[in-house]
Amino acid sequence: MLYKLLRPILFLFDPECVHNILIYLLSLVPVRWILSLLYYYENPALEKTLLGITFKNPVGLAAGFDKNAKALLAWQALGFGFIEVGTVTPRPQFGNPKPRLFRLQKEKALVNCMGFNNDGVERVLERIQKAKPGLHIPVGLNIGKNKETPLEQAADDYVFCIKKANLYVDFFVVNISSPNTPELRRLQEPSYFKHLLECIKHVSQKPLFIKISPDIAQKDLEDMIHIAQELNIAGFVATNTMVVAQGGMSGAPLEEKSTALLKRLKELSKDLVLIGVGGIFSEHDALRKFNAGADLIELYTGFIFQGPSLISRIHRSNKKP
Ligand SMILES: Cc1cc2nc3c(=O)[nH]c(=O)nc-3n(C[C@H](O)[C@H](O)[C@H](O)COP(=O)(O)O)c2cc1C
Repeated sequence: MLYKLLRPILFLFDPECVHNILIYLLSLVPVRWILSLLYYYENPALEKTLLGITFKNPVGLAAGFDKNAKALLAWQALGFGFIEVGTVTPRPQFGNPKPRLFRLQKEKALVNCMGFNNDGVERVLERIQKAKPGLHIPVGLNIGKNKETPLEQAADDYVFCIKKANLYVDFFVVNISSPNTPELRRLQEPSYFKHLLECIKHVSQKPLFIKISPDIAQKDLEDMIHIAQELNIAGFVATNTMVVAQGGMSGAPLEEKSTALLKRLKELSKDLVLIGVGGIFSEHDALRKFNAGADLIELYTGFIFQGPSLISRIHRSNKKP
């Protein structure tokens, strides 16, 4: 209700600017308190243990929302069961020139070409460490490569981030599917993919997830699943944004494609943990992800359009996930 009144005002302004102001406000203790009173919902029936990690509930915050871990305690206060921070890269970078985030209100979608703007893995880990004493939900770290790192050396960037973060996060998400870093998605090709996984598997002390593109070719998908299973990877995050002329599109237009890919992953893979993300705007969309095989789900664009009450609406409709 509150968000319904607030949204038309927020939507008058530049999306990235609004986003940054909201992240700042969410980092403030009194704001967190109020949000917790308004929105927090807990039900022990929603708890889930996967890969030795206990998730308070299966609804998480998707990567890209709190790239720099600035408001970790706020996500917990809003009732999320886990958080995916990042994408982080070894060195800080500014990302693409602004404007680089666009709202398509009629389509219930966002288009972004952010380009991994982030404070760098070390700064982000400091913030995670600082929040840790008050944080009772798992934190995953989504990792990528710096823009100027050539594809042939990409594995070094992922290895660097994992080595730094092993002790501070609960799982890793290997981002090889963002449309906004040139050539990044080529890491989904079997030869690059296998080399990358072999390198990171050696150094990771935490479960590894692969985040994939909804535009992936069927043959590449089959090869990826095969390699992932061979190397004992924990699972997949399906999906990233889909490619459009200006960058990556998220939200309602992605829902069907993303859910279809999740279903295909479930059919083709045994024992892999699946995180479903893409176009969840309601408890019904969430249910479709669970029915397609998701063990956990994540929100981004739907959270912006529907507001924080979306989280507890999903929880209430999903007492037995
Ligand atoms: C502005 C914006 C920034 C994003 N940044 C990242 C990112 O840094 N890393 C990543 O893996 N995904 C990123 N994503 C993709 C989301 O995590 C998610 O996979 C995608 O938006 C689909 O979910 P949705 O339809 O609920 O938004 C971003 C999405 C948006 C809209």
